[in-house]
Amino acid sequence: MKMLKRITPLLLVLTLGLSSYAEDTPMEKEMSAMNKAYKALKKSVEDPAKKDENLKLIADIKKTTETSSKMEPKTTADQPAAGKAAYLEKYKAQMDAFAKEVSALEAAVTAGNTAAAKASFDKLNDLKKKGHEDFKKD
Ligand code: HEM
Repeated sequence: MKMLKRITPLLLVLTLGLSSYAEDTPMEKEMSAMNKAYKALKKSVEDPAKKDENLKLIADIKKTTETSSKMEPKTTADQPAAGKAAYLEKYKAQMDAFAKEVSALEAAVTAGNTAAAKASFDKLNDLKKKGHEDFKKD
């Protein structure tokens, strides 16, 4: 009985933990991966000596961008039926603009152009903010 009392809170924590993990949408998982690469890149993007690491992080961002752009934000479900197609088109357009800037960043890092790399990185930050304002609910 004592054992059961001890183990119950543990089970509760595990269940809650697992269920909140299970609630992550596929896009949230992609975004979390993107966030990890993006944060790491922030520290090294202006360091030409870290070119290889930076290109690897950019490749990770590229991959998650491609996957995310084929997904639908969960806020799509809150849109009126008549506006859904336009909402998704707008989302896709912003994701495409983001992908384009990721390619510009890749080119700048490849060329060792630190100033252009920083400018692209900052643009990505603006596009991220806009994307979250328009499509993410919090
Ligand atoms: C550097 C770029 C970006 C980073 C680091 C980033 C990061 C994140 C993070 C950390 C989350 C929350 C994940 C979670 O709750 O577990 C998220 C969610 C989300 N992001 Fe981004 N994001 C970026 C760019 C974008 C762009 C460009 C768009 C849209 C054009 C976008 C749309 C969304 C949406 C819609 C969600 C909610 C997920 C859902 O609806 O299922 N993000 N993002």
